[in-house]
Amino acid sequence: MIVLGIETSCDETAAAVVNGDGVIIAETILSQLDDHRPYGGVVPEVAARAHLEHVDVLVSKTMAKARINFHELDAVAATGGPGLIGGVIVGIMTAKAIATACNLPFLAINHMEGHALSARLSKVSRVAFPYLLLLMSGGHCQLLNVRGSGRYKRLGTTIDDALGEAFDKTAKMLGIGYPGGPAVEAAAKNGNAARFALPRPMKGRPGCDFSFSGLKTAVRHIALGLPEGPLLKTDISDLCAGFQAAAGDVLADRINHALDIFFTDHPDSNSLVLAGGVAANQFLRKRLKILANQRSVDLIAPPASLCTDNGAMIAWAAIERIQDVGIENARDNLNFKPRPRWPLDPDAPKAAFAGAKA
Ligand code: KG4
Ligand code: ZN
Repeated sequence: MIVLGIETSCDETAAAVVNGDGVIIAETILSQLDDHRPYGGVVPEVAARAHLEHVDVLVSKTMAKARINFHELDAVAATGGPGLIGGVIVGIMTAKAIATACNLPFLAINHMEGHALSARLSKVSRVAFPYLLLLMSGGHCQLLNVRGSGRYKRLGTTIDDALGEAFDKTAKMLGIGYPGGPAVEAAAKNGNAARFALPRPMKGRPGCDFSFSGLKTAVRHIALGLPEGPLLKTDISDLCAGFQAAAGDVLADRINHALDIFFTDHPDSNSLVLAGGVAANQFLRKRLKILANQRSVDLIAPPASLCTDNGAMIAWAAIERIQDVGIENARDNLNFKPRPRWPLDPDAPKAAFAGAKA
């Protein structure tokens, strides 16, 4: 089986051709970082126009790299939400056009499902269902019991900011650039995490929900309290290291609770999977590896290139659905409308409580 996947929901225009064995035959990613950098964040209008300008060339390039013809595809898939609506429309309409012109099945993929299944996109080994997933991106921070393609139970979510957003805002406040995640990680490398006392929001509370806005605000207050003038390099490093350490402690605490719940349902499973752009962070991976060892579970994280947005995860989520229920049940109708709000677990209750303090 060979599927073309298109991803345009945020600031990366991406396409990939993937086969049913989990081999990425070809992929192309065009980052819009330079377009958004002057604004210090993703500007939806700018993103949509850039997707529109580049998507067809990018898809053609990917198909040429794969050395296949559109008619040799088994299906074409695109992110159908959640995401910035302008970009989502561009990707969805492109996939629909290809599907119509070549008489191919079309699949609209939930962007979060792409992340959720990305650790299974491997030609070597495939983590088995069920697993506990920590999905950390620019828009989401969730703990999910992943039972199979299309079968998700949400155990926890953020009651305010996503972790990626907190990384991005922290970087912006400290003036170290965009995108914030990699900038904070790099600045933290030589920092002293213990210098500033930063809160661990939600740590020790029952349940598996997260809160990151208080941590972000604490960084801001500390930065404002430092001597006037530009921040020193060491101040920035120490704040970034402190921020990452606090985030790591919170994640470990929340995962601990989630593992207890997960094991009640699945006592024989032992996989903790990371996904989403923040999962590219090496410090957090190491921190969570310590927890995984303590709990005797395997920590599985996709390579960094599959953590951040990409077309291969969209093609792969389509393949998983097709392999699960067959192409006729997996395909979407061409009148599918992009869905900006599209929870992986529609039955999940609202996050436990708002206004949590550290
Ligand atoms: O999954 P993703 O590429 O896009 C969304 O679906 O949101 O995640 C983007 C987020 C951004 O907030 C970015 O700063 C963060 O992932 N990120 C990182 C790292 N690389 C990307 N955060 C921490 N450390 C990184 N190395
Ligand atoms: Zn994403």
